[in-house]
Amino acid sequence: MKGIILAGGSGTRLSPLTKVTSKQLLPIYNQPMIFFPLQTLLNAGIKDILVIVAPDHAGDFLKLLGSGQEFGCKFTYEIQDKPQGLAQAFLIGENFIGDDNVTLILGDNVFEDNFADAIASFKNGGRVFAKEVSDPNRFGVVEFDDQKKALSIEEKPVHPKSNFAVTGLYIYDRSVVTKAKTLQPSSRGELEITDLNMLYLQEGTLDVSFVEGKWLDTGTFESLFEAYTFIREREINK
Ligand code: DAU
Repeated sequence: MKGIILAGGSGTRLSPLTKVTSKQLLPIYNQPMIFFPLQTLLNAGIKDILVIVAPDHAGDFLKLLGSGQEFGCKFTYEIQDKPQGLAQAFLIGENFIGDDNVTLILGDNVFEDNFADAIASFKNGGRVFAKEVSDPNRFGVVEFDDQKKALSIEEKPVHPKSNFAVTGLYIYDRSVVTKAKTLQPSSRGELEITDLNMLYLQEGTLDVSFVEGKWLDTGTFESLFEAYTFIREREINK
């Protein structure tokens, strides 16, 4: 299993904090944001990690993360020239992924869960993780039937069909690259991860599991503050 941390994007929702640095380098209490998704991959036993960054602050990521030796892993770096969507990670990462399975984690997501078992038991298809939230229209939203079987996923729906958001950790088999190549940009000009998940769902190979612990997408001031408070509490009570 290989890992990808997607840490590009423009971070406009956090401007002016992101005018001189990248969102994923901002602090969450005592650590840069990207350390949290990195730790999630490391805890899951993933040691071969591609870090995808925007051109503007690429050197800062290199300075912070280095070769990976310090973290007991190996980093490869790629630049995403323009933020053209989360699913573009699999086009940029084609050579890196090769014939392996891959776990993508978003550089602004903080998870309390350990995904080691979910990754170890993964064989093929796709596996995503849902979490009940109070503001589903900010996210990809899964619709379930009575047996908790996923029926559909919609990206930021105006009228969400459930309160279950798709979180920013995705496990795929190697067919992800071929599938990503068939995607067309959405109305907002992005290759949507939700469209990719729909391809797996239509094929009958998408497993929707659940996140049990805390999950935060730290892309807004409110969620960044919540993450800060959560990590501070965790550090103090350690
Ligand atoms: O956090 C989970 C949500 O992430 C999912 O529920 C949604 O289905 C998914 O589309 C995504 O929604 P966001 O609105 O949070 O996506 P955002 O544009 O904020 O991008 C997420 C992270 O990925 C962010 O750290 C920036 C980075 N990014 C984003 C884009 C569009 C890139 O590195 N490159 C990109 O092209």
